[in-house]
Amino acid sequence: MIVNIEDLRQRARRRLPKAVFDYVEGSAEDGFTASANRRGFDRYLFRARSLVDVSVVDRSTTVLGEKLATPLILGPTGLAGLLAPRGEELAAKGAASRGALFTLSTMSIGTIEEVAAAAPSPLWFQLYVWRDRGVTRSLVERAKAAGYRALCLTVDVPAMGNRENDRRNGFTIPPRITFTNLLDVFRHLGWVLRMSSSPRATFGNFVDLPELKRTDAVSVAQFTNSQFDPSVTWKDVEWLRSVWPGPLVLKGISCAEDARRAVELGVEAIIVSNHGGRQLDFLPGAVDVLPEVVDAVEGRSEVILDGGIRRGSDVVKAIAMGARACMIGRPFLYGLAANGQAGVELALDILSKEIDRTLALLGRPKLADLDRSALRVDVPALL
Ligand code: FNR
Repeated sequence: MIVNIEDLRQRARRRLPKAVFDYVEGSAEDGFTASANRRGFDRYLFRARSLVDVSVVDRSTTVLGEKLATPLILGPTGLAGLLAPRGEELAAKGAASRGALFTLSTMSIGTIEEVAAAAPSPLWFQLYVWRDRGVTRSLVERAKAAGYRALCLTVDVPAMGNRENDRRNGFTIPPRITFTNLLDVFRHLGWVLRMSSSPRATFGNFVDLPELKRTDAVSVAQFTNSQFDPSVTWKDVEWLRSVWPGPLVLKGISCAEDARRAVELGVEAIIVSNHGGRQLDFLPGAVDVLPEVVDAVEGRSEVILDGGIRRGSDVVKAIAMGARACMIGRPFLYGLAANGQAGVELALDILSKEIDRTLALLGRPKLADLDRSALRVDVPALL
């Protein structure tokens, strides 16, 4: 029986071949940051108010002017289409049906156009800057033409993080059957059969790129290190401002200085994130960095917390600290692997109901009622 996100994770683990599950679950090097993303929430306890009328609980909000029924944004996740055929389309539809936002990764299996056509809006598009600025510009233009609402530039991948499981498993695109994983693939014939209806098993937005055509299988790190531009700077953010007419979002900010710089450039939203612990290890947990960024931004742009959300109470804590909404990665991927669109909807329902219950128990029936007085931050003294 699935009652929480951890149950969905267990279901996903059973349904996916090991190399695919490890790719989703994986973090960089010692996994310090990935676990700090979770542990960070333990440092905040609640201050509940009693005898408050909580007969009507309202978790709706707006993000960049978009009305959301729940303060959740599905984060960009490359290769989500390996978890279920047309996985990105299913996840985008699931998000829309629950009043959440979906962000399509540059590195998706479904293309910019396919996902836009399948999913009712609203959608965001996440961008990596390619060495070839012609490719970058064409991604931006395709996203614009397909009606994506915001452009979300990920700034924490100047080089690919060191994900050792993917190296050990020989995880490639497209996935290969090798002597080492033969038995495991055989144990997951359900996945093999399901995936046989997938339109492709490679990065959909780049099927025409010679580098993908030339080699029949490539590791994610090899491919991205050869394509992503490590020389990207704030100048490129200014350039994007000039070619993208809509709201611009920076994902992967982890200190006050960068948050201030982003605000000065008129960036509409800042996502405090360490890429789910998949990039630089030994960054603090995302929620640990949140107050620093919220204070630096001083309300001049929206702040979104990304990383480690597994409970509705995590979302409530982040919003009380000043986040506008939270982004989730693995939780909806577990749902997608467990049961396609319905699994994504289940993940969102679980978190949304936990948010509602937490708000009621806390005596703050609306998200707008939340502020830092709902939290105790002097926790070490209390534990
Ligand atoms: C990611 N993430 C990510 N981020 C991004 O900007 N572009 C991308 O293509 C990807 N790809 C990706 C794949 C997979 C399998 C995962 C798990 C994550 C990071 C993602 O958007 C988000 O920052 C983290 O997943 C948040 O942490 P949680 O919610 O997974 O703990």
